[in-house]
Amino acid sequence: MSFQHLLPGNLYYMIELVNIKKSFGDREILKDVTATMESGKVNLIIGASGSGKTVMMKCMVGLMEVDAGHIQYDKQNFTNLDVAGRKELRKQIGMLFQSSALFDSMTVEQNVMFPLDMFSMGTLREKKKRVLECLDRVNLKDAAKKLPAEISGGMKKRVGIARAIVLNPKYLFCDEPNSGLDPQTSLVIDQLIKELTHENNMTTVINTHDMNTVMESGDHIVYMFQGQKQWEGNNKDIIFSKDQKLNDFIFASEFLREAKEMRQMDMFKDKDWREQFKKQAEAGSDEKKAAE
Ligand SMILES: Nc1ncnc2c1ncn2[C@@H]1O[C@H](COP(=O)(O)OP(=O)(O)OP(=O)(O)O)[C@@H](O)[C@H]1O
Ligand SMILES: [Mg+2]
Repeated sequence: MSFQHLLPGNLYYMIELVNIKKSFGDREILKDVTATMESGKVNLIIGASGSGKTVMMKCMVGLMEVDAGHIQYDKQNFTNLDVAGRKELRKQIGMLFQSSALFDSMTVEQNVMFPLDMFSMGTLREKKKRVLECLDRVNLKDAAKKLPAEISGGMKKRVGIARAIVLNPKYLFCDEPNSGLDPQTSLVIDQLIKELTHENNMTTVINTHDMNTVMESGDHIVYMFQGQKQWEGNNKDIIFSKDQKLNDFIFASEFLREAKEMRQMDMFKDKDWREQFKKQAEAGSDEKKAAE
């Protein structure tokens, strides 16, 4: 049994999806998905366009209702919670939307202030202090008085992140945080999300297509294929996975296939890793034998 998810004071903020199903009309979008989002980690949901990533995220935060199964936050069954219970839990959830979804007529500062005005009981002075702290954390203090139209796409994402963390959430959800960004800005955003996750011990869930994110931030990865969970593991497991669908998705180009082989060779050079890999392979074949 893994105790990785246990945090100080025996608090753990794991999210479990248990046999969830979701259809629109007669189109089944999520087909009996069971998966875990591990606490204190950056959890990635990857998969082709239309595989159900956004629908799954919306179900997790309650923007959509599941048809069957349930979502468990720590010890609370989110799906069965009443309106008041859900409102309480939502205060612990921060979300960065694909389009950043900033209010165009509000300044950067006012955008970040918004959740505090909605949910916090603090004084105006306290709230302003918190907004400035968050803007400082995402390196945007100087842009506080600007309107969204006056800043770049990468800056908008950072405002979105500041707004998502302003209430000190335990859970952070980001739908395609790198969409529309250049590779270098994407890395800055990935790094920021990773640091915030570890600094604040959050459970973070990211929907992404970005292979840099997968290789750099993939503590725990769930691969979706046509509404089903096809594979689950981390960015090291991916290099050696034999799952054909996953391989076709991740290593789609000749260049990436070559990069994978080089990474495999690199990893084999590491003696500790080789030993661990050998043990895992042996354990796998033992399990197979036991099943036969
Ligand atoms: N509100 C809705 N009503 C009807 N169908 C929907 C709705 N939302 C999503 N779908 C359908 O569900 C399927 C999965 O959509 P979803 O947005 O989850 O895909 P995705 O994996 O996030 O794709 P992308 O990578 O392009 O963002 C799609 O076929 C989509 O058309
Ligand atoms: Mg999507």
